[in-house]
Amino acid sequence: MTQPQRHLVTCALPYANGPLHIGHIAGCFLPSDIYVRHLRSMGKDVLFVCGTDEHGVPITLKAANEGITPQDVVDKNYDIIKRSLEEWGVKFDNFSRTTRPIHHETASDFFRTLYDKNVFSEQVTEQFYDEKADQFLADRYITGECPNCGFAEAYGDQCENCGTTLSPKELINPKSALTGNVPVKKETRNWFLPLDKLQSEFLNDWVATKKEVWKPHVFGQCMSWLNDGLKPRAMTRDLNWGVPVPVEGAEGKVMYVWFDAPIGYISATKEIRDDWKDWWQNPETEMTHFLGKDNIVFHTIIFPAMLHAHGDYNLPTHVPANEFLNLEGQKLSTSRNHAVWLHEYLEDFPGKEDELRYVLTSIMPESKDSDFSWSDFQARVNNELVAIVGNWVNRVMVLSHKFCDGVVPANEDRADYTVIEEVDAVVKRVDALVEKFSFREALTETINIARTGNKYLQDTAPWHAIKEEGGQKRVEEILNVSLQLVARFAKVCEAFLPNTSQKISAMVHLSGAELKAGGPLEKPSLLFEKIEDEQIQNQLDKLEAQASANQDVREKLEPIKPTITFDDFTKLDLRVGTIVEAQKVKKADKLLQLLVDIGLEKRTILSGIAQHFSPEDLIGKQAVVVTNLAPRKMRGVESNGMLLMAENTEGELVFVSPEKEFLPGAIVR
Ligand code: MF3
Ligand code: ZN
Repeated sequence: MTQPQRHLVTCALPYANGPLHIGHIAGCFLPSDIYVRHLRSMGKDVLFVCGTDEHGVPITLKAANEGITPQDVVDKNYDIIKRSLEEWGVKFDNFSRTTRPIHHETASDFFRTLYDKNVFSEQVTEQFYDEKADQFLADRYITGECPNCGFAEAYGDQCENCGTTLSPKELINPKSALTGNVPVKKETRNWFLPLDKLQSEFLNDWVATKKEVWKPHVFGQCMSWLNDGLKPRAMTRDLNWGVPVPVEGAEGKVMYVWFDAPIGYISATKEIRDDWKDWWQNPETEMTHFLGKDNIVFHTIIFPAMLHAHGDYNLPTHVPANEFLNLEGQKLSTSRNHAVWLHEYLEDFPGKEDELRYVLTSIMPESKDSDFSWSDFQARVNNELVAIVGNWVNRVMVLSHKFCDGVVPANEDRADYTVIEEVDAVVKRVDALVEKFSFREALTETINIARTGNKYLQDTAPWHAIKEEGGQKRVEEILNVSLQLVARFAKVCEAFLPNTSQKISAMVHLSGAELKAGGPLEKPSLLFEKIEDEQIQNQLDKLEAQASANQDVREKLEPIKPTITFDDFTKLDLRVGTIVEAQKVKKADKLLQLLVDIGLEKRTILSGIAQHFSPEDLIGKQAVVVTNLAPRKMRGVESNGMLLMAENTEGELVFVSPEKEFLPGAIVR
């Protein structure tokens, strides 16, 4: 088979429910970008599309939690995600969004085609319904105990603990994620993709052809689905956020997010290319989907089944899914904020885009889960990028300036060209490895070029050779060879370390493959700098702070007290007070004695806050005071009222004070 010249490459659309973290990066953004850069360097015609997945329950739940609209959520996150990817240097042809009209149209047409071809089966089924929220509870709107592993917070579509795909009805003790209510069952009509039928008609045979093409873990996961036997799957949902179902009788329903999202790849193409059909329907275009392992079933079974059922589309050739990346030995988690966020990394490590690419490629979870740790990040940057690559390039440049007047020296006899040939063979190996999606090994081979270059310098020792007879010519040969190696390194590292590649190319004025004798050389500038212990400690501290801020605070909150009547409430006399005097109470290490101006008079109030505030800091502070509380004597002093304070689950206290300074005595109600 001849090699395809045209490649459509997709990267799984991230949900616009939060920024991107290193798990997203290592899972699909980085491998897809490396692959695309490689194809482009080989002169292939490539289209690289992505965008944000802006429908689905995680987004509506987040909106409900924050009291904003789903559109607000996705607008904000689209901007953050897009900007961070641009800054980091991912070269998409289009980074679109699934809330754009072009996507709604494209998804709608697609659905309609399947509908008109009678692909869907229409079924009335019982679904969970939250009577309090007046809403059906699809997917993540429902939580409960996982029937597989017992995890208490499994979602209606998946258990994040054991990874099992679930349907809401399988959950034990289901409850609504909206209200916590126990849901009831209610009948509703939905449109199902008959995966059982599609399996025997098409999927079994098609997937069988992928045994040698897909990675073992991708093929294996896909086969295990097929071996279990596929069941029809609902492609519509009773929700109000999503692409409306374009069918009579489906008012108020939207498409299942996993129906519309992969169509996002098509809309992103359509948005920028009039010849979009050539990319999707011409069998000479090869399609490759990059994604994380939780997306495998959707890209190896459901989306191909949709494309096949439609009839006009190509099917993916490659589905190089990655496994998961962990962080400091624990699962990455957006909701628990156990993550290194891309936009924060770029802020904390300005100019160090390639360092992140390097480390994440080195540990990419290509065939099994892997772990990112900050100390490993530091070690890889310092011991590999700085000590091997940076050091080598710098030595070659410095020596060239010292012995060859800052121009590329000649090597007319092609002395030592065996080293160059050796490296040319490595470059070929790198190309082959990238085409097999073995990015880790490809990167190791790439760094080996620098190792070879270092060893060559060490073996030929131009600093000694210069002192021998005929030394100048010999040194020029050595540095010519070294510079040719640097040039090859610059080219081959472009896919992995694009900024570094550019810096080196600029330093040696690289245009073609070989450097021409006599060509100018810039002054060397350092490619990488060491990561200091302090920078690493800052990142570890940050992770810890993120963790403690999130430590399931909600679970520690006290339950709400029994209802009171409005009359009960109006019995309270609440006023703004200003603290005018404050002192410790003898032999009581918790109590402060305060004199509080409540407008009508000044009151003595005892407050158990001595361990939180020092008296001198309190003078002039305002707080809400309960003024009609029965007096109480403590340590011989009578207290006439109470200051309102808020206490969090960590036991920290803050005053409840008016938003701006107010006259003492102002009523609070
Ligand atoms: N938003 C999904 C996720 O983050 C991925 C969608 S991929 C697509 O898991 F194919 F649907 F686009
Ligand atoms: Zn489970």
